[in-house]
Amino acid sequence: MNKQLITLVGTNTQLLIEVGDFAEILYWGNALPTGHVTPTERIALARPVPYGRLDNDVSMTLSPELARGVFSSPGLEGHRGAQDWAPAFVIEQYEQQGDSLTLTSVDSVAGLRLVSEIALDSHDVVKTRHTLTNLKSGLYTVNRLANTLPMPARAQELMTYYGRWVHEFQTERLPLLHGGYVQENRRGRTSHEHYPALVAGTPHFGELQGDVWGFHFAWSGNHRLRVDAKTDGRRYMQAEVIYLPGEINLAENESLTTPWLYASYSGNGLNQMSQQFHRHVRGAILPAEFHQKQRPIHLNTWEGIYFDHDPSYIMSMASQSAQMGVERFIIDDGWFKGRNGDKAGLGDWFLCQEKYPEGLHQVVEHVNQLGMEFGLWFEPEMINKNSDLYRNHPDWLLAVEGYEQPTGRNQYVIDLQNQAAFDYLFERLDHFLSTYNIAYIKWDMNREVVQPGHLGQAAAHAQTQRYYELVDKVRAKHPSVEIESCAAGGGRIDYEVLKRTHRFWASDNNDALERQTIQRGMSYFFPPEVMGSHIGASHCHSTRRRHSIEFRGLTALFGHMGIELDPVAECDEEKQGFERYIELHKTLRPLLHSGTSWRIPTDDQAHLVHAVVSDDQREAVVLLAQLAMPTHALSGHLRIPGLANNTRYRVQVLDKPSNYQDIVNYQPPWTEEGCELSGSWCAEVGLTMPVLDAETAMLIKLEAID
Ligand code: DGJ
Repeated sequence: MNKQLITLVGTNTQLLIEVGDFAEILYWGNALPTGHVTPTERIALARPVPYGRLDNDVSMTLSPELARGVFSSPGLEGHRGAQDWAPAFVIEQYEQQGDSLTLTSVDSVAGLRLVSEIALDSHDVVKTRHTLTNLKSGLYTVNRLANTLPMPARAQELMTYYGRWVHEFQTERLPLLHGGYVQENRRGRTSHEHYPALVAGTPHFGELQGDVWGFHFAWSGNHRLRVDAKTDGRRYMQAEVIYLPGEINLAENESLTTPWLYASYSGNGLNQMSQQFHRHVRGAILPAEFHQKQRPIHLNTWEGIYFDHDPSYIMSMASQSAQMGVERFIIDDGWFKGRNGDKAGLGDWFLCQEKYPEGLHQVVEHVNQLGMEFGLWFEPEMINKNSDLYRNHPDWLLAVEGYEQPTGRNQYVIDLQNQAAFDYLFERLDHFLSTYNIAYIKWDMNREVVQPGHLGQAAAHAQTQRYYELVDKVRAKHPSVEIESCAAGGGRIDYEVLKRTHRFWASDNNDALERQTIQRGMSYFFPPEVMGSHIGASHCHSTRRRHSIEFRGLTALFGHMGIELDPVAECDEEKQGFERYIELHKTLRPLLHSGTSWRIPTDDQAHLVHAVVSDDQREAVVLLAQLAMPTHALSGHLRIPGLANNTRYRVQVLDKPSNYQDIVNYQPPWTEEGCELSGSWCAEVGLTMPVLDAETAMLIKLEAID
């Protein structure tokens, strides 16, 4: 095919793709004023061919092939009984429709077709995936099928993620000079350890400066992410599902489609990248039907009562919650048959008659009469051996016969490819959703997957797909029910699960100090409204630290807010605090859940500052969190980006620590009296930082006055 130059244009960014026998991205960066590229400009991009290598120039294609002389990680690895293992696809046709390009390539020798899709939308988010089809007789075994995107040679630093239970979304910086970075997740869920995203950028890229390319792989199971600096200096990012041995075998005319890889370029650092992803999440990922609804404030019972359920006590918890301004009351784990601890009951999705002798209706009705929605916890994919379900169906485990696999939280996983098991789970969920006025499900998944076997064969990929199918089926029958994705806290947080859910439980760690870092890490790819963020008890259950109600309240404010404790047992002072932050959240949530988020760099690592500016730039809120003791006696200036340069704003402190005046001789007067500043002053000159104790915070509001 004659070479053609295709341009995909977003709002700020552009992709230039050359399509001939194969497709190569020649440019991915800021939008060019003319939009398209002339033949002369194309000449400027022709590469030299150095000695000591293959005699021809070798392109980094959308799916790198060994057969074309690409020595990096190929886009496809597979074989047909040890044949057809080094394919070279030739593009037969392509179609550009609006912001997306679809390329169809065939290798007639290997008998394979590869359809590659790539799009760049108005939010400046690229998405790409491949579909491989076996065109010949004989099973084609796929070992790997990856999405590949190139980056320019100036992408020399990485920001990657690590973490664990109660310590999600931690970030790390690594140089990308020679060789590369590989992250493998084999835990069977998105995982706390290997969140499927990373950022590459120019050296020392920051929140407000540097070129960055952010990547998010939308898949809730095993994955591999790779970023390589090739020996010739070119760089690329690759994302793929890890297929277990023998897992994918395509019969003639059968296809395999990869998950979507999402990516976004920013020439202005991480904030712009996140803003592009946030807009994409709001406009193209989150289920559209809930966009108009304010996100209700939660009371979740877990850390309040754990497995100790008494309906009359729960109803008094609900009454107290309603008085404090809570709008949705959720009964967490412990309500179903045999569930008195974490060793038994999973799978038996029948109301526990001993705990709820009068049934659940009276509780749900009580909650509804108080004006709150009702939510219920499930962990559908799991089973305890100590359950009627297991006693009746020992063959429903996702396991390999002949092996005893290790348990996680004393439980096993149900094989969702087993149709009877799948149907049972759907029937149980459907029963509860049809019988009670349930507005919300907290859908949990508390263990990792070991030996995911179905009829002896590896089934990790299919298990994840069947999980999506189960959620989709529930949603199709009960479209108004909202779902939270939870997996022992933040173990299943990704864009694919968000297409069918509404909120994430970011972490089981409600410690406000830890939450500041967790929520910061999550904010790179997710807007605040999908981040479940609860005020926990003053004595944090996961870290044993104590925090003031102000620090807990302000930290929970910047997400989808809730309370996670027993309100009946709390003192009046605490309750007044909950009421205050609930009220504040209600006032601010239209702004927090629709505006533009900014992570604001400061002069001291001991601060973490986060702002949300309304789309019309008429108002903003800034949260100044003091994580540790200030490094210096004076902490420099708070400079706030994102406001309109020529607009004047009234600056006011909305909330501060109760001992604020007692810890210094004088605090900066603007924190008491407020002041009026222009947007450009805020961005360039800023405000003097106050002195704050470690583990406290201050909330600042800016409102346009002209
Ligand atoms: C893990 C979740 O993250 C918690 O919030 C809670 O729902 C427990 N599971 C219940 O078992």
